[in-house]
Amino acid sequence: MQHLIRTADFTKEEIIELFDEAKDYLDMQSRDTLKGKIIVTLFFENSTRTRSAFEIAAKRLGAEVVSLDVGTSSTKKGETIFDTVANINAMKPDAIIMRHSDCGLPGTLVNHVDCPIINAGDGKHAHPTQALLDLFTIREHFNHETEGKKVAIVGDVRTSRVAGSNRRLLPRFGMEVCFVAPDCFKAEHNEHKQYDNISEIIDEIDVVMSLRTQLERHNEIYFESLNDYAKDYCITSETFGDRDILLLHPGPVNRNVDISDEMLKDPRNKILEQVTNGVAVRMAILRKLIMQ
Ligand code: NCD
Repeated sequence: MQHLIRTADFTKEEIIELFDEAKDYLDMQSRDTLKGKIIVTLFFENSTRTRSAFEIAAKRLGAEVVSLDVGTSSTKKGETIFDTVANINAMKPDAIIMRHSDCGLPGTLVNHVDCPIINAGDGKHAHPTQALLDLFTIREHFNHETEGKKVAIVGDVRTSRVAGSNRRLLPRFGMEVCFVAPDCFKAEHNEHKQYDNISEIIDEIDVVMSLRTQLERHNEIYFESLNDYAKDYCITSETFGDRDILLLHPGPVNRNVDISDEMLKDPRNKILEQVTNGVAVRMAILRKLIMQ
C-alpha cells in the first residue's frame, strides 16, 4: 500500500502521470471513480484551502467524506492520537487525510492502519500535496520546461513546511531553489543559497514563492509589528517592475505583509490558479492511492 507522507514517496514518473491525470480533472466535472469509498479527514491544525480542496476533490470523484471534528474528538478526553487513529482505522475507511502540528506524526502512523494516509501538513516538516500543486502550476506555466528555472522562496522559510517540501521537490524537476529571508527566518541548514533582500536576485529569477510569516510556530517575537517585516519582504509592484516573473503563495496571504494589494490583482500572480490546481492534483492523488 502506498501513502503520501513526503514528496519523495512518489517517483518522478509517478508525479508526471499524476499531473497528466490532474489536467483532465481541471474540467471540474463530477465522476463516479471513487463511488462507495469513504475518506476521513483529521485536521488537528487550522485549514481553509487544504481541507476544503481535499473534500471537494473526494466529492468530485464520488467518494463520501467524514470530517472528524477534532475539537470535540476523544483526543480531547485524553486518548492518544495513536488510539484515535486505530479506532478510525477499525471502521475501515478507504483513506485518512491528516494534518497535525507534530513533525513526522503521519509517517509514524502508516504501520498502524490498513488504508493510505495522506499528510496534509505536519508541523514545520512537510506539506507534500501543496508542493505537488505548486510544481503542477509552475510546470503548466512554463509548458513543462522547468529545467534551469530559478525559484526564490521568500519569507519565513525556517518554519514553513511548504518551503520544506518545495525545496526538495522542485530540484528533482531541474529547478534551482534559493531563499530570501531576514536572519530570524532563514533556514538553519545551508543546502540552498540564502539572501537578505530580493533585490539581490530579482533579475535572475523566474518564480517568486511568497510565504506567510508563521508567528504561531516561533517562540520569540522578532518584529515590533509585521509592518517592519513588510518593509523589506512584502512583494510589491516596485519589487517586480515589468519583469516576467510568476508569483505564487500557498495561502493564507497576509495582504500588504506578504504581497501588496496591487500585486494581488496583477496577472503575474497565479494564486487562485494554484487553488483550482490543488483540487485537480488532489483528485489524482486520491484516485491513485485509493484505487492502487
Ligand atoms: C500553509 C500550511 O498550512 O502549511 N497553507 C496551506 O496549506 N495552503 C501555509 C500557511 O499556513 O502559511
